[in-house]
Amino acid sequence: MGERFDHIVILTGAGISAESGLDTFRDKGRDGGGIWSGHAVEDVATPDAFRRNPTLVHNFYNMRRRAARAAEPNDAHHALARLEACYPGDVQIITQNVDDLHERAGSRNLIHMHGELRKRRCTACGSIEISDSDLSVHTSCAACLTQGSLRPHIVWFGEIPLDLADITRHLDACDLFLSIGTSGTVYPAAGFVDIVRQNPDALTVELNLEPSAGETKFQQKIYGKAREIVPSYVNQLLQSYV
Ligand code: NAD
Ligand code: APR
Ligand code: ZN
Repeated sequence: MGERFDHIVILTGAGISAESGLDTFRDKGRDGGGIWSGHAVEDVATPDAFRRNPTLVHNFYNMRRRAARAAEPNDAHHALARLEACYPGDVQIITQNVDDLHERAGSRNLIHMHGELRKRRCTACGSIEISDSDLSVHTSCAACLTQGSLRPHIVWFGEIPLDLADITRHLDACDLFLSIGTSGTVYPAAGFVDIVRQNPDALTVELNLEPSAGETKFQQKIYGKAREIVPSYVNQLLQSYV
């Protein structure tokens, strides 16, 4: 290393929160795959599922919201917050995660492309509220008072992820792209590294427990547990910029 980067963009996935005790989506060898165990994706994470059985979907996200609230940021989250606070160049996190562990570790430059468990959106008036309380078909919107109109502010399969124009601007300007704790199997996030590689001077690094589906697209690869490899990589960045 030894060079200074002007725009560091960091994509994080479920793997960065795994050591905070939050299940990932596709861990190998999991029954039904981590978070989905016991539920089919089609029954809890699509707009049609919500139309068919809103109570099942509310209960699925209430359970995930409570688990996220009981979790604590781990050393990987704290290392990224330290990088944003101490590094001279821009540091921007784009997370696929819907927990608030990056915020609670102190990160501020943060885009949640799949939404946030702490937010709910009114399908009647469009307002977005922040609340840690459970959601149900009996909950009323604080803005328009409609009962039963609130849905989790989560991007479901078949829906368009949030802030893609903003994300593309960051990727176009990026000279260091870190991909942390994601299997690289879900688009458009899995294609972000392809956008960065259009800049021949940009460095792409994968930090994961094991090679992801997109591992060949990265110039550097570091494998291990996020709470170990991320702080170590951040320390190198902070010690080496000139
Ligand atoms: P998806 O995985 O089905 O694919 C997203 C889009 O990328 C689709 O248009 C798909 O056609 C395209 N795509 C898939 N594989 C591709 C490839 N190899 N090359 C190029 N394009 C490819 O995701 P989705 O159904 O569009 O879901 C939208 C978003 O919702 C996803 O990013 C997903 O992560 C998110 N989501 C969130 C949750 C949650 O609980 N947070 C649950 C489910 C889905
Ligand atoms: N340290 C680092 N990486 C880890 C750890 C760990 N302790 N534990 C697991 N991982 C890695 C796994 O090897 C895997 O590659 O994290 C990755 C988790 O992959 P997924 O479970 O597929 O999660 P993610 O990539 O975030 O899924 C993307 O799919 O269902 C949608 O919207 C959902 O945001 C999610 C998206
Ligand atoms: Zn409303």
